[in-house]
Amino acid sequence: MDIAQAREWIEQARSVAVLTGAGISAESGLPTFRGPGGLWKSFRPEELATPGAFARDPKLVWEWYSWRREVHSRCEPNRGHVALAKLEQLKPQFTLITQNVDSLHERAGSRKIIHLHGSLWRVRCMSCGKEEQNEQVPLDPLPPRCACGGMLRPAVVWFGEALPQAAMAEAMQAATAAEVFLVAGTSSMVYPAAALPHVAMQHGARVIEVNLEATELSSLAHISLRGKSGEILPQLASP
Ligand code: OAD
Repeated sequence: MDIAQAREWIEQARSVAVLTGAGISAESGLPTFRGPGGLWKSFRPEELATPGAFARDPKLVWEWYSWRREVHSRCEPNRGHVALAKLEQLKPQFTLITQNVDSLHERAGSRKIIHLHGSLWRVRCMSCGKEEQNEQVPLDPLPPRCACGGMLRPAVVWFGEALPQAAMAEAMQAATAAEVFLVAGTSSMVYPAAALPHVAMQHGARVIEVNLEATELSSLAHISLRGKSGEILPQLASP
């Protein structure tokens, strides 16, 4: 019943925004961060994903990102990614906001994507500040170097760092304007991304969650659907 209602709301909305997290890429074979098999079960974020960790041991941090790039390069988008790319085609106003640093949304055909936490496939120079796409797998040498000679870092957001301002402003704007705000595959624990559904709700959006399990958002969402995003999103978002 809930799924039929959610589908109807999405069908009727002209303006839809979507927030995705690691769960949407789980069926593509990528590990999530929390929960069983999550990255933060085997690795300590403070040793790998903070500016301090990079200053202490850039090679170690790069080895971890280089391993993640190799894993990602072997993965394909799944039915959840594809469903969102199709939904974008149907809506006059559509914004996909992702916390994921993978590129599976792009590869599934999504066009308008806000990467709140940066990208595994971009690098930024610690000296000249230049940011660029880098798809070399494996990376050699580590740490990689910029043409200016400076050390490159992954262009991702680490713990303790601010989100890219323009991306966050655009995401807030999309949340404010959305008639339906769909949240898929995120534990809704990491702010400020986790605030976006609340902003949307305050501005009158219907909030629909898709997740394998209950999250911080579940009791507040208008509809919370339990299951795999690769199975539920195609049912919600098909033409
Ligand atoms: P989490 O690992 O915190 O949460 C993943 C969520 O996906 C969980 O709620 C799972 O129940 C759900 N899930 C798993 N498989 C699923 C499936 N097949 N279908 C639907 N749901 C599924 O990942 P995020 O919420 O993305 O930040 O984590 C947020 C941020 O915390 C990440 O962007 C990263 C991390 O630290 C940075 O690195 C800055």
